[in-house]
Amino acid sequence: QEIILVGVPLEEGAPTRGCCMGPDAYRTAGLRQELEAFGHSVRDLGNLRKEEVEPLTCGNPAVKNLEAMAGWTRSISKCSSKLGRDPVFPIFMGGDHALAAGSVAGLAEAAAESGRPLFVLWLDAHPDFNTLESTESGNLHGTPLAFLCGLPGFDSYLGEPVRHPLAPEHVEVLGVRSIDAKERQLLVKAGAGVSDMRRIDEEGIGAPLRQFLDRVKRHNGLLHVSLDVDFLDPGIAPAVGTTVPGGATFREAHLVMEMLHDSGLVSSLDLVELNPFLDDRGRTARLMVDLVASLFGRRVFDRPTRSF
Ligand code: ARG
Ligand code: MN
Ligand code: MN
Ligand code: MN
Repeated sequence: QEIILVGVPLEEGAPTRGCCMGPDAYRTAGLRQELEAFGHSVRDLGNLRKEEVEPLTCGNPAVKNLEAMAGWTRSISKCSSKLGRDPVFPIFMGGDHALAAGSVAGLAEAAAESGRPLFVLWLDAHPDFNTLESTESGNLHGTPLAFLCGLPGFDSYLGEPVRHPLAPEHVEVLGVRSIDAKERQLLVKAGAGVSDMRRIDEEGIGAPLRQFLDRVKRHNGLLHVSLDVDFLDPGIAPAVGTTVPGGATFREAHLVMEMLHDSGLVSSLDLVELNPFLDDRGRTARLMVDLVASLFGRRVFDRPTRSF
């Protein structure tokens, strides 16, 4: 299956500038070449641009860059709904996490036509479950998952309500260690799956992931993975504006990617929140490329090794 790279230089959802350079950092780090090196065929469509939209306002004066958000959501969702209908594997190279509002909205439309339910694995320190009303920071990268689950108040993003909201029970947020008070209430009420770091520490990261993958398989679902750089511990992934201590280790992150590969269920991917301006000699970009390689089956041996 052909892998399609789409660059999305969106940074208006984040408090810190620099995510606009993310797509080029992945190109510089050799994402395409890495995947081709073990036999995948890859096409890079270049970068998307945001649409111009009508003037927009909302009731919360804290909200920043609403028009940019709407312009990006509309252009990204058009692209992703097309790619979702093709027999390809799209990778959206962000760009901040506001990107996922567009990528997943479009993929959900395509999934609805295919008759298969869309599941989403949100790998993130944050659940990004604020609404335009609940957000205190006003940074719209904190809102895409609430929008995608059909919470009210987001009609400005697409100029109409989201046509195929995600079923919250088809969403799993893995790695959470930072949440706002109102955001927690909204998330719990909606009923999305959440595995926080406490659970990961006690059970290992494989346990919640395996349960979720079993559910996707039982429903014959499509699985979209949205990977926020801040899912990773800042010690190994410094290039992100919203670092939170205590994130996934190198080994946990690779295990997640390897299990996802083995499941054969993943059909699309977002790489978000990479801020190359904050990186240390490209190490975060390179780590992200290595994680994608694990997701696409790069491994040392064909099966887990055993000793005699
Ligand atoms: N919950 C916080 C907010 O709404 C942080 C969001 C961080 N989101 C992200 N995609 N890094 O501002
Ligand atoms: Mn995020
Ligand atoms: Mn269902
Ligand atoms: Mn985050």
